[in-house]
Amino acid sequence: MSARFPVAVLVSGSGTNLQAILDQAHGRDGVEVVAVASSKADAHALERARQAEIDAAVFESSRYSDRSERDREMAAWLERHGVRLVVLAGFMELLTPGFLRNFPNAVINVHPALLPAFPGAHPIEDQLSYGVKVGGVTVHFVDEGVDSGPILLQEAVELPYTRSREEILDLLHTIEHKLLPRAIRLIALNAVRFDRDNPRLVRVDESLIEETAAVKGTK
Ligand code: GAR
Repeated sequence: MSARFPVAVLVSGSGTNLQAILDQAHGRDGVEVVAVASSKADAHALERARQAEIDAAVFESSRYSDRSERDREMAAWLERHGVRLVVLAGFMELLTPGFLRNFPNAVINVHPALLPAFPGAHPIEDQLSYGVKVGGVTVHFVDEGVDSGPILLQEAVELPYTRSREEILDLLHTIEHKLLPRAIRLIALNAVRFDRDNPRLVRVDESLIEETAAVKGTK
């Protein structure tokens, strides 16, 4: 049996990625989602957390004197839950360096583009207006920059000819919902290592997840 690996998920919106984590990672390989924190009180993701009976709280920046204070309180709340990994699943705010120091190499983010292309808050619109033929999804560790931390998993997809943001979003969501739960399970399985000589280079031992899958008869 895998050791318990408590995870927190940070959200701001609909929470389809949170749902994918609950459906595909929660309860596997020791992963236990113990806390959901939202930057918005009306995020539908909070309802998903309630349905799954997971402790949820709102940390709206406007209610604090500044972002550092918000992040201090949020980090303290997460530490009380014994969190070992913080997952940004559509969390649309930057975290302060102080927050990140509380969880060294233990904050990951999902981004709907092939980084380092199209970082920032409007990656779908940016890819559409640039007219790229190949897009994708990146799961990366979070550092102090904007979508700039070491890359953990990436998957590319050919983008159809379309003017529809929704069409691209649906396509990329399908990939996110597979990649993000997988990244969490790989970290819980201790299958992720930073290269000794180049910490930007992340080595992932995918075989560990396959072995577990074979044992459990699930993937
Ligand atoms: C996801 O597509 C996620 O990649 C994106 O927000 C969406 C949240 O959807 N995040 C970013 O763009 C971060 N830069 P969800 O609330 O349904 O999971």
